[in-house]
Amino acid sequence: MKTIIEPFRIKSLEPIKMTDRPYREKALRKAHYNLFAIPAEDVMIDLLTDSGTSSMSNAQWAAIMMGDESYAGASSFFRFESAVKELTGFKYILPVHQGRAAEKILFTTIAKKGDIIPNNSHFDTTRANVEVREAEARDLLVPEGRDPRNKSPFKGNIDINKLSEFLKSTPRERIPLVMLTVTNNSGGGQPVSMANIRETSKLAHQHGVPFFLDACRFAENAYFIKLREPGYENKSVFEIAHEMFSYADGCTMSAKKDAFANIGGWIGANDEGLVSNMRNLLILTEGFPTYGGLAGRDLDAIAQGLKEIVDEDYLKYRFASTRYLGEGLLKRGIQIVEPPGGHAIYVDALSVLPNIPRDQFPGHALACALYEVGGIRGCEIGTVMFGKKGPDGKNIFPALELVRLAIPRRVYTQSHVDYVLECAEELMKECNKIRGLRFTYEPPALRHFTAKFERV
Ligand code: F0G
Repeated sequence: MKTIIEPFRIKSLEPIKMTDRPYREKALRKAHYNLFAIPAEDVMIDLLTDSGTSSMSNAQWAAIMMGDESYAGASSFFRFESAVKELTGFKYILPVHQGRAAEKILFTTIAKKGDIIPNNSHFDTTRANVEVREAEARDLLVPEGRDPRNKSPFKGNIDINKLSEFLKSTPRERIPLVMLTVTNNSGGGQPVSMANIRETSKLAHQHGVPFFLDACRFAENAYFIKLREPGYENKSVFEIAHEMFSYADGCTMSAKKDAFANIGGWIGANDEGLVSNMRNLLILTEGFPTYGGLAGRDLDAIAQGLKEIVDEDYLKYRFASTRYLGEGLLKRGIQIVEPPGGHAIYVDALSVLPNIPRDQFPGHALACALYEVGGIRGCEIGTVMFGKKGPDGKNIFPALELVRLAIPRRVYTQSHVDYVLECAEELMKECNKIRGLRFTYEPPALRHFTAKFERV
């Protein structure tokens, strides 16, 4: 059969409030043209993030009822620990409340002023947790990863030549670790090949440097390897994921992505000394090491979610639905980062709104228009998020001006996606009328969260 169906039935549902365009135009004005300020119930299709927004399965809700809320040594912890160890093979697992808590603990423990951490591309919270240590987060992505039209299969790879150069020319004591983000969220959700993971691990170890994975979307990365890398077509996603982790000395993880949980995460590592230092910090900031800022029931939801995320029927449907959105946009003349990523589609706003100057935020203007047209909430990843003012007061623009449409796991059906495509088509008809925006309030940092705007 050609048709790929959602491999689940819906037992419990969350109603969507239907709104019309005048209602949404008013809501957007009231939110000062910032989509983060729109109440979620005024959003019809929420593609702001795939993080913490998954539907949990009946088995996960059942596991939640098994949650053991003992302060120390809860049975939930042991179920969680054994699920994570079986998958990753790491000797020690520290639970945390979400990915950035793992990053905070890891980098507080290992990074100091003047250090440099190489990565394919740091996610913003990873970068912030490196920079807050006065260390440098250095992105060494392959060049094709920056070209939206390039269709290479592993555009999330790190540039091995650049990494090798870097490791040769930088004193060992300034490199606390090498990291790879799978999949590469900041670069279109593109995967990293097994060959690249293996080579990165080998290079790092030749220089005596530990190698960590930012493993948020490990299952999607593993499925890309299965589909695209010769030699892996007959391996299970679990086996591929296990092999990915086997090259690493540790990982940070947000269970809000590829564990189907609404909250949670972990740090995995093999080095006992490092883990002992991190555990002390964990107790200070997250909680006792058998719950790490989570309820016992959350740990059970993760343990069960990890069994479900490597299910290949699920992953097949997941990729089909993301691809369906991406290809539908391309068919309607809307350029996206190609090929479609695993968890999201990234629209190239400059190709849709070429007449809006960069300093009037074309990506943000597009995200706002999509909300007005259809109640769809995406997220600008462009000048509002990453633009800066240079010393001369002039704007420095990021390389790409994107709008990310992230797809929550197991939440929306194909007719929801058809609706998004119809709205995109509608938007294209009026794209010449869409106006740019300017700040009425510009926060000093992370400005996309709280900025206020008006239309030019
Ligand atoms: N690393 C990557 C690659 C991520 O995508 C995220 C979160 C984190 C780390 C941090 O995890 O949110 O649990 O603290 N990404 C979300 C997103 C927020 O929308 O892409 P967290």
